[in-house]
Parts: sequence; structure tokens; C-alpha cells
Amino acid sequence: MGGLVSRAAGWGAHCISHKIIDRETGKEIPEPEPYHGEVELGIFYGNCLGHLWLWTIIVRIYFRWRGEITGWMYNKPRSAKEIQQLAKTYQVNMSEVDKPLEYYTTLNEFFCRRLKDGVRPVAEPEYDAREWEGCAIIINRLAPVDYHRLHAPVTGILKKVTRVGSTLYAVEAAAINSPIEVYTMNERAVLEFDSPSFGAIIFCVIGASQVGSCNVSAYEGDALRKGNEVAFFKYGGSATLTLFKRNTIKWDEDLSSNSKNLWETKVKVGQSIGRRR
Ligand SMILES: *[C@@H]1O[C@H](CO)[C@@H](O)[C@H](O)[C@H]1NC(C)=O
Ligand SMILES: *[C@@H]1O[C@H](CO)[C@@H](O)[C@H](O)[C@H]1NC(C)=O
Repeated sequence: MGGLVSRAAGWGAHCISHKIIDRETGKEIPEPEPYHGEVELGIFYGNCLGHLWLWTIIVRIYFRWRGEITGWMYNKPRSAKEIQQLAKTYQVNMSEVDKPLEYYTTLNEFFCRRLKDGVRPVAEPEYDAREWEGCAIIINRLAPVDYHRLHAPVTGILKKVTRVGSTLYAVEAAAINSPIEVYTMNERAVLEFDSPSFGAIIFCVIGASQVGSCNVSAYEGDALRKGNEVAFFKYGGSATLTLFKRNTIKWDEDLSSNSKNLWETKVKVGQSIGRRR
């Protein structure tokens, strides 16, 4: 197989059907058979009795022990003779691998083989992230008591709406200050505006714990005036991030000075947050 089997899914979607789609061809492909262990999958995972067994200490210790033995064996030069078989069983595309089969001295070495340079080019994001380097960001966190409708921060055209992320961490201070990257992992809608006064701005609407849906009510192509409703949140807490290009906005004095002290400021919809530089 060419890569990871990945799923984009929300909470609760931990069961998978036996269906894998090759995104390059759009066709269904079979689940790769395990390398040794088809029988075991049937015994332990394929029926209810097996599921009960999986919880027992004995089976867990056995799996652990077996894993260590296998690891030990596959690190031995003797395992090299299985490389050919593994490559054949899974039809490893050797023209992508950086070394010929004979190079590998153990099965494990082959297992974690490198690929030739350039065979998996990394997808570029659609917009150039450098464009936003040094941008000005305002983070607005909402508490349950707050008004949860969101309004265009500028007058302009809503160029694009993108939905990303799927987790729903909290946005309370404890969560924001934890190592979890709440703002870049949570479910969010990214609204890109083109505004006559500020140029491009990004308004990022972030779902949070219990706010499954950030419902975007404006459409791509809409010409909006500052203050027109663009989205709303359902119950819970949530946040927005608004990004202005470097040197386009001067924040209001109280916001800047409070932020310098690492304080937040309570603001309401409609109030000024800054002016064009
Ligand atoms: C093997 O890899 C090369 C380089 O990525 C690719 O062009 C070729 O189509 C692949 N062959 C198969 C059978 O997937
Ligand atoms: C978003 O709001 C619209 C209009 O109120 C509604 O029809 C739609 O079902 C909502 N979508 C979600 C995900 O809540």
C-alpha cells in the first residue's frame, strides 16, 4: 500500500466498515491481509467469545510477549530471508524504495525502509502561509452567557469558506494554556474576506466543547457589510480568531495594553477593536 489508511471522522466514529477507497483511483481496495496471523484475527477479533478473551490478563501478557519475541526475531540477520516474501505479498513498489532488496540485512530494516527523494511530495496549502507571517491576531473567547451570533468584522466579499478539524476541546483558559493546540485542532470554519480597507482578512470560527456545530449562514461570494451576520454557534463555549495582515490594523489602546499584561478584555459585538493603520 502506498500510505496510511486514514479516516476523517467526528466523535464516536470509532467503528470502521471493511471498505478502503484508494483516493488516487477512487476505487475500493481490499484490506491488506496481516503478515502471519490471519487465524488469530479470526479467533480473537471475529466473534464475541474472542472479544471476552481479549480482556483477559493472560491474552494481554501473551500478546506482549509474542510482540517482543517477534521484534527480537525480526532484528536478526536470519529474518532477512523473509524480506523477499514480504515484498511480494504486499507488492511493495520497489521503484519507490531508496535501496535494492539485497541491501536490507533484517526484516525490520526493510520494514522501516526509506523512499527515494521526491516520490511523496508534500501537498502545498492553497494559500501561501508566509503571506500571513507577522499578522495581527485577535482571539475572542465566548462564554455560555455571551451572544453566540457572529458578524462580519469588515465590509467586503466573503471569498471562501473552508471547514477543517474535528475535535472539540474546551476553550476555557485551562484548555488554552494546556499543551493541546485547541485553536488548530478543533472543528472550525475559516472564512476568508477580501475587504477594501484591510485587504485579505481571515475570520476563523472555532467550535469547542459541546458546540458541535459552528453554522456558517453566509455564502461564498456574498458582499457583506461590517456587522452582517455570518455564522452562529449552538450551545456551549467557543471562540473566534481574526487575522489581519501585518501593519494593516492598529488595535485600540486598552486592548493592546491589557494584552501586554496578559489580560483579556471583555468586548461586545459592535464595539470597536481597532482602526486601519
Ligand atoms: C511504482 O512507483 C512509481 C513511482 O512512484 C510509479 O510511477 C508507478 O506507477 C508505481 N507502480 C505501481 C504498480 O504502482
Ligand atoms: C445551519 O442553519 C441552517 C439555517 O438555520 C439550518 O437549515 C441548518 O440545518 C443548520 N446546519 C447545522 C449544521 O446546524
